[in-house]
Amino acid sequence: MSAYTTMGAEALDALIAQLEQEADAVRARGLKLDMARGKPSVEQTDLARPMLDMLTSTSSLVDEGVPADNYGFPDGLPSARRLAAELLGVDAANVVVSGSSSLNLMHDTVVNAYTHGIGGNVPWCVQGEVKFLCPCPGYDRHFAVTERYGITNVPIEMRADGPNMDEVERLVEGDPTVKGIWCVPKYANPTGITYSDEVVRRFAALKPAAPDFRIFWDNAYVVHDLGEQADELLNIFDALEQAGATDLVYEFASTAKVTFPSSGMAFVTASPSDIAELRAAFAIERVSPEKISQLAHVRFLRDVDGIRAHMAKHAKILRPRFNLVQRKLEEGLGDLGIATWTKPRGGYFVSFDGPEGSAKAIVALMADLGVTLTGAGATWPYGKDPKDTNIRIAPTFPSLADLDAALDVFVLVVKLVSARLARAQA
Ligand SMILES: Cc1ncc(COP(=O)(O)O)c(C=O)c1O
Repeated sequence: MSAYTTMGAEALDALIAQLEQEADAVRARGLKLDMARGKPSVEQTDLARPMLDMLTSTSSLVDEGVPADNYGFPDGLPSARRLAAELLGVDAANVVVSGSSSLNLMHDTVVNAYTHGIGGNVPWCVQGEVKFLCPCPGYDRHFAVTERYGITNVPIEMRADGPNMDEVERLVEGDPTVKGIWCVPKYANPTGITYSDEVVRRFAALKPAAPDFRIFWDNAYVVHDLGEQADELLNIFDALEQAGATDLVYEFASTAKVTFPSSGMAFVTASPSDIAELRAAFAIERVSPEKISQLAHVRFLRDVDGIRAHMAKHAKILRPRFNLVQRKLEEGLGDLGIATWTKPRGGYFVSFDGPEGSAKAIVALMADLGVTLTGAGATWPYGKDPKDTNIRIAPTFPSLADLDAALDVFVLVVKLVSARLARAQA
């Protein structure tokens, strides 16, 4: 029961008329605000500008004896692999640093399984129906990769401590057509939750029905804390070792939201045999990676402490934005019982749920009033949010003033759409 569903028709009509007047006034302002994608703000990307000074025409371009300015070393520069390994807590021997986009590495990993198979198994493309589990709400670009190759995306309930593991175990262990699962284990996109130790251990203990099942562990927000109170994620490779398991996880990450999105350093790690397979696949696609960019990165970031110090500067910029989201939503909607939202301690998003049947209407009315949001349904496979409730709030890119204005409009729109829904049921 919300404050609106307990109101009578007459009171709701009066409320709707008042909110519509306010919406008309907003429309007249001709706003043009964007809260759609999880991009760092200009202040954040500016933090990485000194990286551009790390290399000049007189700099040494040799990294631990390896020339960065020529072909060779397809797994990346030694110091770049070590930095990535340190960040993920794995052995550098099992790390490939390549390209500037972790999504690109995920895509290529799916394609390799699709066209050539994993571990000597038949390629997915000739296996008939192949399924991927998609914890929802989740990251639309993950779902787009598997959808593109005709893989069936199966929604899985997302909880406060990670995916519903009873469901994951039932499907992975009982259905050999289930070949993978998309996971963002820390500060998940968009809920911002971090998987509990128990969930990570249950992932590591999975006994898949398919020998070519793999967990796609996208640790995109591994160091993206908003404050000192950070979430801790259990290292999946440590959990695998304890469970006596191997060949189960591909882990991905990048510096896209540490330095420059689309010009960062992307990496993947897996078991020795899985990484050897990926290395062989990548060797057909590219001679060797962007080692000049890697060299600039390692000279700028140096080590994990250097990354953490740099991320603390990002956090200082982001914290006021995330605090503003919480304050505005709490002040505007806190007492009404019409919506819930997450309070993440890191990452790039807040996940918002309005009343059933509201999300599409909210996003459409927001656009009409001049504020772009991520499309409703985007956080579900095939864009189909079964209850039409979920909206991804991306507060990082707009200025504080723009965000403030956009959130005021959001609160107004959520109230109006919720009141209209309640009126339709009154
Ligand atoms: C969960 C997740 N993974 C991957 C990416 C993209 O990373 P990259 O730029 O390294 O491809 C994003 C970007 O928003 C993301 O949210």
